[in-house]
Amino acid sequence: MKSWSGRFKEESSTLLDEFNESISFDKKLYKEDIKGSIAHCKMLNKINVLTDKESEKIQNGLKKIKGLMEEGKLEFSIENEDIHMNIECLLIDEVGKIGKKLHSARSRNDQIAIDLRMFLLEKTNGIMNCIVELLDVLLNISKRNIEIILPGYTHLQKAQPIRLSFYFMAYFQMLRRDYERFEDSLKRTNSMVLGSGALSGVPYKTDRGFLREELGFSSISENALDSVSDRDFVIEFQSCSAMLMMHLSRLSEEMILWATSEFGFIEIPDRHSTGSSIMPQKKNPDVFELIRGKTGRVYGNLMSILTVMKGLPLAYNKDMQEDKESLFDSVATLEKCLKILIEVMPEIKFNPQNMESGLKSGFLNATDMADYLVSKGMEFRNAHKIVGELVAYSLDKNKSLEDLKLEELKGFSKLFDGEIYNRLSFENSIESKVSFGSSSIENINKSFQSAQSFLSSKRNI
Ligand code: ARG
Repeated sequence: MKSWSGRFKEESSTLLDEFNESISFDKKLYKEDIKGSIAHCKMLNKINVLTDKESEKIQNGLKKIKGLMEEGKLEFSIENEDIHMNIECLLIDEVGKIGKKLHSARSRNDQIAIDLRMFLLEKTNGIMNCIVELLDVLLNISKRNIEIILPGYTHLQKAQPIRLSFYFMAYFQMLRRDYERFEDSLKRTNSMVLGSGALSGVPYKTDRGFLREELGFSSISENALDSVSDRDFVIEFQSCSAMLMMHLSRLSEEMILWATSEFGFIEIPDRHSTGSSIMPQKKNPDVFELIRGKTGRVYGNLMSILTVMKGLPLAYNKDMQEDKESLFDSVATLEKCLKILIEVMPEIKFNPQNMESGLKSGFLNATDMADYLVSKGMEFRNAHKIVGELVAYSLDKNKSLEDLKLEELKGFSKLFDGEIYNRLSFENSIESKVSFGSSSIENINKSFQSAQSFLSSKRNI
């Protein structure tokens, strides 16, 4: 029999039970639900709604249910709808009618809100730890490969030479911001909403400060109606997740591109590649393709919760039960993607020769030539035009800029002298970038230092 059956004259239809239930997925929240119930029970004891004996009995009952759940010995039922009512019924079976007192001064509305917040606090911390591990991997790759130079692209057309370390440190910065976004979201998730009741608070002297301490939250929500109505903390998590996946997807896209025979910049280890059922020669970068693909589902999860929430009147509406599956999906997807990257990235083999030969075509030192003319007194716009003409000239002759003879160069501008060849080397091009944050070794070393101190401050949080 349903705990809310009092006002109904008919049994609910089986189809309704199947349609209405969330136990098939919110059973994932059993730990949080029991933890919340134990804190609530202690609080009821503190304010004399439960006697010491009753409180002890209920707490033991809840702990027993948790143990049975962990041993896989519990069966939940869809007639009891969700994790909250299932646990309450199991408790009543276990401890008898005093179990029926536990739901005093609370509602499933504040129960689910606190459960979800507890769940997200733990999962967000786990994801942040994985990001730190991945950042560490990127920093190590960068440190190990400071000598490697490769073409940098804009519009996927060769642009200017850069160091491989500089490239990976760019992703370091992106993922560092992702970490900080998750970290910042915790401030708002970390709000103790239990004690809000259905929507307007409860007619008991509920000690919410005690609940906050018991459950380890940093603050107490200030408006009961808001506490049970909003899922902005879920949306924020989904939004941080979408951003992180966007970065992982771009990295993945580049690994896929670099692993092609056209680029040949990297080799993905055999143990992280897949084959084809028909083409014997194939070695496919499925890991990176899947990360790129899974980005789509995480974006979808964000859109899903935003859309669920957009038209809801205050306070709780059953629509909000739809917040969970997409949330669990994003958490699991992020965990999987981060873990596989932490394993694969350090094993990628770089091919510096191919990267270097990529520098030979594409006039990656054309900007350096223009800057050289500027250093000799020419206006940048004029220098740009002359070097553009030199590029066209070299294309006709099938040569690179550094292959042109001094007399040929002088034909375009008298300002050229022998020094130009030095300026055109790719290494010098990189080192000439002296602006803070640029690709020179000095700047890269500075970025290593700041990365290192970021990581040491965040490790094992
Ligand atoms: N299973 C519900 C959910 O996940 C719990 C809250 C139900 N509250 C209610 N008033 N029906 O949203």
